Amino acid sequence: MSQPHLRTVVVLAAGEGKRMKSALPKVLHPLLGRTLVGHVLTAAAPLAANRTVVVVGHGADQVRAHLAEITPDATPVLQAEQLGTGHAVRIALDAVPDVTGTVVVLNGDVPLLRPETVTALVEAHEGAGSAATVLAAEVPDPAGLGRIVRDADGRLEQIVEQRDATEAQRAIREINAGIYAFDAVRLRDALGKLSTDNDQGEEYLTDVFGLLVSAGEPVGVHVAADHSETLGCNDRVELAALRRLMRDRVNEAWMRTGVSLLDPETTWIDVTVALDRDAVVDQNTQLRGGTVIGTGALVGPDVTLVDTVVGAGATVIRSHAVGAEVGPNASVGPYAYLRPAARLAEKAKVGTFVEVKNSEIGAGSKVPHLTYVGDATIGEQSNIGAASVFVNYDGVNKHRTVIGSHARTGADNMFVAPVEVGDGAYTAAGSVIIENVPPGAMGVARARQRNIEGWVVKRRAGTAAAEAAERARRGGEGASNPGLTASEGEAIHGDTEAVGPASGAGDTATD
Ligand code: UD1
Ligand code: MG
Repeated sequence: MSQPHLRTVVVLAAGEGKRMKSALPKVLHPLLGRTLVGHVLTAAAPLAANRTVVVVGHGADQVRAHLAEITPDATPVLQAEQLGTGHAVRIALDAVPDVTGTVVVLNGDVPLLRPETVTALVEAHEGAGSAATVLAAEVPDPAGLGRIVRDADGRLEQIVEQRDATEAQRAIREINAGIYAFDAVRLRDALGKLSTDNDQGEEYLTDVFGLLVSAGEPVGVHVAADHSETLGCNDRVELAALRRLMRDRVNEAWMRTGVSLLDPETTWIDVTVALDRDAVVDQNTQLRGGTVIGTGALVGPDVTLVDTVVGAGATVIRSHAVGAEVGPNASVGPYAYLRPAARLAEKAKVGTFVEVKNSEIGAGSKVPHLTYVGDATIGEQSNIGAASVFVNYDGVNKHRTVIGSHARTGADNMFVAPVEVGDGAYTAAGSVIIENVPPGAMGVARARQRNIEGWVVKRRAGTAAAEAAERARRGGEGASNPGLTASEGEAIHGDTEAVGPASGAGDTATD
């Protein structure tokens, strides 16, 4: 063949989708990472069409805006009134009056269609030199769909809509998928001859086939091997069924490339996600958008990741992340929330009930418990004490906190930004850090403790507490901590794992 084929793609997306009962146009409903129309355009992409025309109508502005985002090369064409699929294609061709070659028409609501299937249809059509070729499938339940009516020799005679079909025609289980290849010139000619003499009073694109057959033009039927590809979406029950089919298809493909899915039924992976070999996804996990999971990473159970990159060997358990980066061998959760631009370097840890936003957590650094980290930079190998808050917002502007490397900050600290804690610095538990802490210093910012001896016995006489205090004073048998000194008591109140260093800060403060 001397010349590549001229190809024009027309996607029909003007219908309202009444049965969806939605403010959102039907073709914009999402299905595992793309809209319905996004899936259809993706299936048509390998055709390398010279022009792509999308017929818009209901919710035209919304559909146009979406197209500008996902396929800026496509030309939206307005069908102000939805007078049928034939009318829609006629309007599309009016926008490209000089077009010849192959016109591929796709319904905008057939999202499971595979690119290979569209390519095979178009190649069969072009190879046979047909005037028109329809994608068909044998389905268990043809209700509501157009039927492929063949003559005694098995040649296509016409396509009949369910509502216009005879009893005998309704028994046919071979249906029209709503995907076609046409010769542009003969299509244009036939579209000019369409009538509205049918149950809906619409111009049916499907009538083009009957017209071409009557004119003695060669038409073809290309049968899809997997009928699920041809399923349309007319209501939310069908959409849910399509979503399950798509999930199974995506999950099977990942398992075949070497990813372990421990419970595929509860694992929902967008078509836009990428996973490396030996990644393990545990149950009840959703991976969405541009999420990427590295080799050997363990994600789940109960994890939702949106546009999040998880490095090799990292662990993410019972957590939610949006626009975050989790470095190699880092660890997240259980119960962490990573918000946009939360970036964990290698072996960093974000533990339980920790929220991180727009912050870098350096290699090996840990934020183990009950903490908000916002607009911060934390160096390497530092530890942030439990129950700390990076106070980033003054009510008008956001400010940054910088914590150096090998720092140890005490439990229950407030870092009032902008503020810096230097390399190797410590801070005392319960501190409100409003001034920079130089490298190697111990920052203490809390009131000294005062004990009012005998207060309970005097002011709460007769209570169980007062009685316990009396027993302790007498050094009696029932005392739980006989001989406890005040300074040891303070040490015990610190969380020795998270804030051990700060527990001696009372002494430091007297230096
Ligand atoms: C159509 C086919 C039917 C086929 C089925 C496959 C016709 C007459 N019938 O029926 O044979 O089995 O698809 O799913 O074509 N649209 C427009 N403008 C219009 C009308 C429709 O853009 O004026 C768009 C819709 O948005 C939709 C597509 O065309 O994306 C199909 O329209 P729909 O009303 O869903 O047709 P079906 O009744 O499903
Ligand atoms: Mg339909």
